[in-house]
Order: sequence, then C-alpha cells, then structure tokens
Amino acid sequence: MTTQQYGISEYLKVDEVYVKLNALISQPIRPIKREKMQEYLNYYDTKCKRSKELTDEAKEIIPGGVQHNLAFNYPFPLAMEKADGAYLWDADNNRYIDFLQAGGPTMLGSNYAPLREKVFELLRSCGPVTGLFHEYELKLAQLVQRFMPSIEMFRMVGSGTEAVMAAIRAARTFTKKKYVIKVGGAYHGWSDQMIYGLHVPGTGRLEAKGIPGGASSATEEFYPNSLSSLKRHLMFNLIRGGTAAVIVEPVGPESGTRPVPFDFNRKVRDLCDEFGALLIFDEVVTGFRIGMGGAQGYFNVKPDLTIFGKCITGGYPMAGGIGGRRDVIMCFAAGIGGAGERAYVGGTLSANPLSCVAGYHALLEMERTNAPVIAGLAGDRLTQGLQKIIDKYGLPFVTYNQGSIVHLETSGVMLLDLKHPIRLLKELKPRRNMMEEMGAAYMAEGLVTLAGSRMYTSMADTDEVIDDALARFDEVLSNC
Ligand SMILES: Cc1ncc(COP(=O)(O)O)c(C=O)c1O
Repeated sequence: MTTQQYGISEYLKVDEVYVKLNALISQPIRPIKREKMQEYLNYYDTKCKRSKELTDEAKEIIPGGVQHNLAFNYPFPLAMEKADGAYLWDADNNRYIDFLQAGGPTMLGSNYAPLREKVFELLRSCGPVTGLFHEYELKLAQLVQRFMPSIEMFRMVGSGTEAVMAAIRAARTFTKKKYVIKVGGAYHGWSDQMIYGLHVPGTGRLEAKGIPGGASSATEEFYPNSLSSLKRHLMFNLIRGGTAAVIVEPVGPESGTRPVPFDFNRKVRDLCDEFGALLIFDEVVTGFRIGMGGAQGYFNVKPDLTIFGKCITGGYPMAGGIGGRRDVIMCFAAGIGGAGERAYVGGTLSANPLSCVAGYHALLEMERTNAPVIAGLAGDRLTQGLQKIIDKYGLPFVTYNQGSIVHLETSGVMLLDLKHPIRLLKELKPRRNMMEEMGAAYMAEGLVTLAGSRMYTSMADTDEVIDDALARFDEVLSNC
C-alpha cells in the first residue's frame, strides 16, 4: 500500500457539519424551479419509454414494480441493462454516471472484468453451490482476518441483515443478557428486532408493521452521538436483564448521515467495557470501503463482533458475514468442534463458492489497486466541487464526505427528528418530496445517486468522470 492506507484523507469537522445541517433544516426548502422540473419530467416521458413499459408491466405482478429499496420510483423506476466501471445504461440506452454503485459493494467499479473472469472460472469448474465445503470459504476468512485482526473467527451468511441477526443471537447466547441498543435512525437490515427507530431517531416501532411487539421488546435506541443517553440505557438495563450488545455504524447512522465525532467509537467501546456489553460494529458499508482495515482500523477501535455485507463479496450475491472474538463466534459452531450452547444460524446458500470466490478476489484486487484510497480521493474531489457549486449559487445545501461516502443534503429530510415533533409533522412530506425530485433531476442529468442525497464513489471514478459529474450537478443546482 502507499503511504495513505485509508480512504479518508482528513476527518470531518463534525461540529461545523451540524451547524450547516441545522441551518439547512431551519429554513424553507429550495426546490428546483417548476419549469425546470417539468423539463426533467419530460426527459422520462420522451427518453425512457422502454423503462416505463417494463416497469408498468412489472407493477401488475411485482408489488410497486420494483424490488429494491434503493430504486427510484419517481416519476417511475428505470430499468438498467448494462453496467461497466463508472457507468450504467438503461433499457433505452441512456448512459448514467453511477454513484449508487449498487448501494456500495462495487469498489472496483461495476462489473469489473478481472473479477468477472475469476467468477467464470469457478462457475465452469464447480458451479455456484454444492452445499459442501469449498476452499474459497477458508481463503476468504483468512483474508478478512489479515485485513482486520479483530476477526479471530469468521462465518459467511446471506446478507447484512442475516449477519446482524446472527450477531445479536451470538451476543445474547454468549453474555446471557437481554437488551440490544442501537443508534436512533440507524439501519441495520430488516430483521424484526431491528425495525426499530428506523431512519428518524426516536420513532421506535413506527415502521414495525407486521412485527409483533415482543420481537423488538428487547431493542432500544439512543439519540445519535449522545453518550449520556447510551449510558442511561446501559445503567437502566443492569436491573432488568442486562445489555447483550451495543451496535453502531462506526461513521454514524445511515453511512454517516449523522456523522460521529472522531472519538465517539472509542467512548462507546469504553461504555461497553464498563457495563459488560459486547460492541458490534456494523461495517456493511464501511468494511473495506473506508480502507482494507475497515472503520475499525481507521478509528483504531476493536469491536467484539463485526458485521460484513456489500464489499465482502465484491458486488456478487449473498453478501453477508460476521466475525470477531473466537469465544463469541464459537457459539455458531457447526460441523467440527461445536461446543457449548449453540446460537442457531443457517442458509441453504450461505458461504457458497460463488460468493466466496468473488469476495476473495475482489478484496485482493482492492488491496493491490489501493481502491479504497483512490475512491476516497474521488469522493474528496466530488465533495470539493459540490461545495464550490453550493457557494457559487449561495445555496443552503450541505455536502461532506467520509472518503468514498459522499453526502449532499439539499432537503435535509434525513435530519428531521422527534426532538422537534411539530417540525417533523409539518415538514416531513415536503422535504421528502423535494429529495425525490432532486433524485429524479440528477438522474435526468445522467447521475444516479442513492435516494438523491448520498453517493458512493469507486476506483472507476477518474478525475474526468468526477468533473463531468460536477458539470451535471451544476446544471441541477443552478435551478434551485
Ligand atoms: C449499515 C447497514 N447494515 C445492514 C444492512 C443490511 O444489509 P443487507 O441489505 O445486505 O441485508 C445495510 C444495507 O444497506 C446497511 O447499510
């Protein structure tokens, strides 16, 4: 590796970011001018006819017409047909710069050819799955351990959601304690127990439709960055069953939508030690994106358990893994050497050769090419360019990045919370609509983002790609 090992060149001035974010949500929204928005909507009607046909037909058989939470639905979803490096092409052959990057796993760029070849080789020899052990399971586990020494043992599962479920189950089995504490607003997958305090801090079971109360009765949330609130939960739990684990996304919830101060993770670690709770780092997004050592390497904080997803299989399916302390992970022991009480995990396709070969070669290639740092520098260039555009037009919008995770808050909807319930009630809808419009406008300008407010850069994002993207952002933002 070169001198810089991590994709974050300078840590955020978190206080300054919050001053700007608070200013953004204290003022009226600045949406796109109506006539310009109409022009963008016309783009969809005239240039995306095949997508419209396909997704209209899909609506008849697939609820809502799309099956992915990250898909845009406004004005209608686009069907993608081709992916290569920094670009996507839709069913009408329109080209887009891809800052969604499938939600984050493709650090090498989309459909990276050398990785694809390794997957083809494996498919030719043994197919995607046998149900029995394959050497690539071992190779991937050893590689993860080399990058992150906290991973004494490692186990693959089917997704980040499953890995979180498994981690909580292991934590409860191992500690014999009950509660799991998460950060309000954080997303840790869609298991019954984690649909709690979702997206908006303080909302508890608001989104828990179809989930019986008991399923999340031992889940708690604390206000983002509030160590005193975390401590209160830990203390209170002492007298009613104890805290099995505290789970955090180390850059802050929702990929740092509410970023944490640099020493936050260290302080959470200290509180976990004080109260005998396990610390779980959800590195589904940050694992190998912030650097090959993950956010735990960057912040130099050792969690007891780590959740992997996305990059763990380089963009190929069944992206989920859990690793950490030997004594805790041994709770899963299947096959040889299982001992003690067992925390049940399963999955017909868990740890299949296809996922493991893809993960192994993706990680090796990311190390060889220094992809996290290259993508991080692209994130810096994008953020700096966006800031210049915001300043040029005197907009209240906020942009910041943690390496290759770039935030562009224009509507501020993600920052609303129950501390200001009247504002939340009044502004949720218009701000959410604005975010949707921004996403649709970026897309019409040839830019795919995550929900119109977040972008992931990859190794494929050369200066040329970023500068092209900035010209497109300029066009949208000049019309706000
Ligand atoms: C931080 C975090 N944890 C967990 C998950 C769930 O992972 P999966 O979608 O693989 O189930 C996600 C998904 O985006 C995530 O961002």
